[in-house]
Amino acid sequence: MDSQPQLKLLVKRDEIAEAVARLASEINRDYEGKHPLLIGVLKGAFVFLADLVRQLDLPVEIDFVRVCSYGSGTVSSGKVRVVQGVKTAIRGRDVLVVEDIVDTGVTTSFVLDYLGKKKPSSLKLCALTAKPARFRVRMPIDYLGFTVPNKFIVGYGLDFNQRFRNLPDMYALEEQ
Ligand code: PRP
Repeated sequence: MDSQPQLKLLVKRDEIAEAVARLASEINRDYEGKHPLLIGVLKGAFVFLADLVRQLDLPVEIDFVRVCSYGSGTVSSGKVRVVQGVKTAIRGRDVLVVEDIVDTGVTTSFVLDYLGKKKPSSLKLCALTAKPARFRVRMPIDYLGFTVPNKFIVGYGLDFNQRFRNLPDMYALEEQ
């Protein structure tokens, strides 16, 4: 039987909304006159991407890539593979990758490498959260919402064993 994980409120929905609004205004400013292609990294980014794009005053296109890095539980396997590739033509596009969290950075750097090989005219990264204590791969995060402590985070798209993605706030999963 599943044990009941304890959740501790970490980031309230109002704070998340403030960060999303700030990121959207930076993106609106920087991509003025362009038609960026936003690529959400499934599954976790779907909530953030949905909130972000509704505040963009730009002719955006949206696609998704789905990669797998974690098995079940809270420990990364360190290996990334593409489960669902991007269907839109990338060459010559202004591509903005949208992530919910940069943890070790392994997933995001893999995705940036995968997309970079398809020759976009620009390739930038927008991450709602980052966990600097865990970075194993250094990469610039062009648009960052906020940093989070070195805890397992759930809610607002982020899961633990596929649960809790629907929570509107972010929580830290407490050790039992
Ligand atoms: C999470 C998150 C990032 C990645 C970050 O995805 O959405 O894509 O882990 O971890 P890293 O920086 O250590 O690589 P996950 O692989 O859990 O899949 P999901 O988005 O389907 O939940």
